[in-house]
Amino acid sequence: MCGIVGAIAHRNVVPILLQGLQRLEYRGYDSAGLVVVNNGQLERVRSTGRVAELATKSVNTQGFLGIAHTRWATHGVPSERNAHPHISRETIAVAHNGIIENYEELRARLSAQGYQFTSDTDTEVIAHLIHSHYSKGNSLLAATQMALTELVGAYAIGVTAADNPNLLICARKGSPLLIGVGENEHFFASDASALLQVTKKMVYLEEGDVAEVNLDSYSVFNAKGELVVRPAHISELTNESVELGDYKHYMQKEIHEQPQALADTLEAVCNSHSLVPGIFGAEAAATFADINSVLILACGTSFHAGLVARYWLEEIAGIPCNVEIASEYRYRVSVGNPKALVVTISQSGETADTQSALNHAKSMGQPHTLSICNVPESALVRMSKLRLLTRAGPEIGVASTKAFTTQLAALFLLTLVLAKQRGRLTKESEQKHLHELRHLPSAAKSVLGIEPVIAKLAERFADKHHALFLGRGLHYPIALEGALKLKEISYIHAEAYPAGELKHGPLALVDKDMPVIAVAPNDILLEKLKSNLQEVRARGGELYVFADANTRIHSSEGVNLIQMPEHAGYLSPILHTIPLQLLSYYVALQKGTDVDKPRNLAKSVTVE
Ligand code: M6R
Repeated sequence: MCGIVGAIAHRNVVPILLQGLQRLEYRGYDSAGLVVVNNGQLERVRSTGRVAELATKSVNTQGFLGIAHTRWATHGVPSERNAHPHISRETIAVAHNGIIENYEELRARLSAQGYQFTSDTDTEVIAHLIHSHYSKGNSLLAATQMALTELVGAYAIGVTAADNPNLLICARKGSPLLIGVGENEHFFASDASALLQVTKKMVYLEEGDVAEVNLDSYSVFNAKGELVVRPAHISELTNESVELGDYKHYMQKEIHEQPQALADTLEAVCNSHSLVPGIFGAEAAATFADINSVLILACGTSFHAGLVARYWLEEIAGIPCNVEIASEYRYRVSVGNPKALVVTISQSGETADTQSALNHAKSMGQPHTLSICNVPESALVRMSKLRLLTRAGPEIGVASTKAFTTQLAALFLLTLVLAKQRGRLTKESEQKHLHELRHLPSAAKSVLGIEPVIAKLAERFADKHHALFLGRGLHYPIALEGALKLKEISYIHAEAYPAGELKHGPLALVDKDMPVIAVAPNDILLEKLKSNLQEVRARGGELYVFADANTRIHSSEGVNLIQMPEHAGYLSPILHTIPLQLLSYYVALQKGTDVDKPRNLAKSVTVE
């Protein structure tokens, strides 16, 4: 989704803006632009395509303050004229993330006042609105605050004025924004990674905040216009954590970071001898004692993590669990349960649908909320009573990998804590689970060892247009996740089914051109799965079977065995995810797609 960077300094800010935009590229975008104030004039450069093109076009642009933007088209096609920043009457420039829902009405009103529109975006109304107030003698801050009261929708904005070379304004409602504090220089951005090259001191704006940003200071005003103090945090992100290093793509790097990410996420429990609710927050014990069910809300890959957790929660903790796609739940007329634990799962913590689903759940009288998230300062974490942070580190590739497996680890901890609280975990089984969790990072590392096998296998997918993924029980969501990864980055149409459903419809699709990928753990459903695989072979389908040791599945004509280590019990879904991630990565390499920035997709989906 769109990204914003702003900077005011005693040096040329163009390189800072460009580097910031490059760091935000992972969010997904189709065009980019920047504006600087130079000798009382706004100097704007915009381009479609990559930030690198914008950099080439900006070589002669200089200024001590400016704003920059990567755009992910919502209103109006990706084009230079629709790229931000948008300018009103050569005076006000605005970069915007989010969607202004009442822009048509505002556009009609501003057109009637004589404002000329040069783009199809909703953003341009913000520039003209601010101008309409600024031209009446209001300060830039006041003009922005007035304009914001007229907007319906979500925004993070950066504002600059040609005749105001010592001041930037930024504001947020519904889209994330933070201020970066430097030595006599200040910045703002959509996320911390954009500013790491200039500062690690970050101040996160809250809903409705508007900030004045100067060379040597900044001031934050809340939605009521009151001056407020927002705490500064020192970001734990490092430059290295957002750099590619020796890997070809962020996705490959992030797949390989999983052993460490799992170890970091599990650190607190693996170094202890027992599980305590406190890992979810101070109020966790009381909250967990008051619940009778779990409701999980999430999107995409995070939703798949929730689907795995349902199996664990019902089987191990004996607690009823529902899992819902957040974008559906937020509009569904459902029955609230005040004793439900509402668990939201999100890598970014900024997904608009998941935030709205959480608000909807609360509005239905469900006060017990827990967020499992990878970004500590994110909106979702702040909106929830309890939290467990995954410690995967920044995930840059649009396709979620290490975030997913660490979400699973976190959800397994939740399962164990609830099971213990409900008297369903003996001392021995608690120790056994802890032992297996301690072993999980090294087990993940050994699964990564099959990378060369999968790289070779992927060559056979290069000319395929469809693929079918099968799994059963706990591993059906892993089949779903494998199919999502493949379609997301290789653009191969992929479907996932619980293998028992084959004969209820999808078997009709199977012929020699349909690769069928099966997740085959050595669990209680193995023999059932084998029968399903026979159904595929009987129709000429080519099987690729990711099987644990001792499943007695062998390679033969039409059956390609990819040997996994021994069955890992309840943690098996985490290990079976890794080869499917690798498969989609290497198939995407074969197809020559843009692995880290697949077409039409964005990393943080901050609009509905
Ligand atoms: O940041 P979130 O976990 O809330 O994001 C949810 C989905 O947008 C995300 O998982 C998406 O499906 C990924 N691109 C999948 O790889």
